[in-house]
Amino acid sequence: MSLFTLKSKTHAISMLEDDHKLVKDLFEQFEKTENHGRKLKLVEKAVEELKIHATIEEEIFYPAVRQTMDDPEGLMEEADEEHHVAKVLIAELDLMKGKEKNWEAKFIVLAENIRHHIKEEEHEMFPKAEKTPIDFEALGQRMLARKKQLQAKGVPPDAEAKMVKKVGLRGDSPAMHAQKKIVVPLKQD
Ligand SMILES: [Fe+2]
Ligand SMILES: [Fe+2]
Repeated sequence: MSLFTLKSKTHAISMLEDDHKLVKDLFEQFEKTENHGRKLKLVEKAVEELKIHATIEEEIFYPAVRQTMDDPEGLMEEADEEHHVAKVLIAELDLMKGKEKNWEAKFIVLAENIRHHIKEEEHEMFPKAEKTPIDFEALGQRMLARKKQLQAKGVPPDAEAKMVKKVGLRGDSPAMHAQKKIVVPLKQD
């Protein structure tokens, strides 16, 4: 949030920025701890927060911005694709138990993607959106109501969750298979 504009807690952009702060803090806590049980809890919490956050952005905030903001750079399409990639990783993490070899790597890659996405929203999308005539207080109230509903009832499975469920987890990546088969040329002394 800018130091020069004071927004209330229910201003749509402040709400999103508060969520961003929360998930970034969870990522940091994950990176700092060695305790596996703690890591499991942090992943569960981050995934839940991200699902709710993405849903309110996609259902309410993004459509409002799309209707009112000129976007010749395609910021909104980029954001959609970033959500898509994050939701695939989230759906895979949802199917995992935390014992898989690539579990930690998957969460770290999700965190990297989200940090990048947050930067683009906060530095490019939100400043442009603030110039639109949207009533962000009224929009924030709507987002808050939906957030409470999602917190109470859970987030319905999205297209990515259905897709990942159908395909299943790919624990053994093609690169890992190739590594087993390849005859490695070694330097001769
Ligand atoms: Fe966001
Ligand atoms: Fe987003």
